[in-house]
Amino acid sequence: MNTFKPVLTEHIGQPDCHTLSFYKSVGGYTALEKILKMKPEDVTQEVKDSNLRGRGGAGFSTGVKWGFIPKDSNKPKYLINNADESEPGTFKDRLLMNKAPHQMLEGMIIAAYAIGCHTSFIYIRGEFYKEYKILEKTIAEAYENNILGQNILGSNYNLDIVIHRGAGAYICGEETGLIESLEGKRGWPRIKPPFPAIEGYLQSPTIVNNVETLSCIPHIINRGSSWFKSIGPEKGPGPRLFCISGCINKPGVYEEPMGISLKELIYEKAGGIPDDKQLKAVFPGGSSSAILTAEEALDVKMDFEDLVEKKSMLGSAGVIVMDETVDMVQACLNIARFYAHESCGQCTPCREGTVWLVKMLTRLVNGGGKPNDIDMLFEITDNIGGLIDFSKGSYGKTICPFGEAVAWPVRSLVEKFKAEFLEYLPEEKAVA
Ligand SMILES: Cc1cc2nc3c(=O)[nH]c(=O)nc-3n(C[C@H](O)[C@H](O)[C@H](O)COP(=O)(O)O)c2cc1C
Ligand code: SF4
Repeated sequence: MNTFKPVLTEHIGQPDCHTLSFYKSVGGYTALEKILKMKPEDVTQEVKDSNLRGRGGAGFSTGVKWGFIPKDSNKPKYLINNADESEPGTFKDRLLMNKAPHQMLEGMIIAAYAIGCHTSFIYIRGEFYKEYKILEKTIAEAYENNILGQNILGSNYNLDIVIHRGAGAYICGEETGLIESLEGKRGWPRIKPPFPAIEGYLQSPTIVNNVETLSCIPHIINRGSSWFKSIGPEKGPGPRLFCISGCINKPGVYEEPMGISLKELIYEKAGGIPDDKQLKAVFPGGSSSAILTAEEALDVKMDFEDLVEKKSMLGSAGVIVMDETVDMVQACLNIARFYAHESCGQCTPCREGTVWLVKMLTRLVNGGGKPNDIDMLFEITDNIGGLIDFSKGSYGKTICPFGEAVAWPVRSLVEKFKAEFLEYLPEEKAVA
């Protein structure tokens, strides 16, 4: 039996749950009080021990990342809260900012303390105007109550937080594109290494963490790393916010333990598919993940490892459900259009390849497809993002993982639903 109790969304829905007084009434900022008496390295160790992995997409260990901050550097250290949330099918950070902003803020202050940061940023998606206004208020409340500013809660620790609004570019969610944008430049991702923890904002050590990742931190501090590790699979544990959209009876954000089966999520939690239609396919981790057929989807656990085994990924946990009526070629074109529009244009395979994909798929749906189009689609995706083989690591051929983010969904759609693509070829040109 699933005995999981929501952690991050426990109080969401209660009146005024976004306010400081409400947050304090349910134990808010006690984790902050606790860590201000701890050594920063012990805070990092606790987070490392919890096995928390990033909720932004890449799933890297949060504590290990914090530990990369050089101890001997005299440069200022920065923490950036990535609130850009632009991955199609993903809308969980928005909920957290709307309804539990102090939980996120407490996580930020703890993270900043652990890495020795005194100026931190929230980089928020430009379209999130309402959330921006809420966060302005949240931060003002925190300053008024000595939770931010000088000598926080009577300690020697000082921290300022600045909100920076994005301007509508998906690529500014990628951490180095985000940093460039924050520096006032065009949001062009940087070649790594150096990684931001060594050389990030203004060439100084910088940690970028996602809203949901940071929201987990107060709970890890208060309840301990062993408690966190006991939720779901040990290698990637904890509560997780799954965003369910598409052909589904009850779309929304569901907080469940890592490792829940996708079948349970779709059919028990989110009410199944409207009109009892057949499931056809699912993107398990936003539109950047490789698509799963119905058969694969009904046999997968929503954790990092199981999805990699199925040659997809958990990504941002944006679950996009498709029923039997969805045209996979049209869906593919839709996705390709998005990525062609959002490519920053620095790398030739990504800049040119995404436009080629759109042109070829448009030609195909308009009845002008050519016999070797399927092979060409494979070749283009390989040239942008490399072969899909997660077991051997990334084969990316571009500056940032956006290349893989377009190659994986498109290639997997063509590979797994090839017959539908062939059907679009004019009859006399179709070759199986
Ligand atoms: C194209 C692209 C877009 C991304 N968009 C986001 C985003 O909107 N929000 C986010 O948290 N991470 C996003 N990421 C992942 C970030 O680069 C980074 O890994 C993450 O913010 C780190 O935080 P975490 O370790 O807490 O997950 C994106 C990555 C890529 C390649
Ligand atoms: S992969 Fe695409 S989005 Fe990323 S840096 Fe290259 S051109 Fe820009």
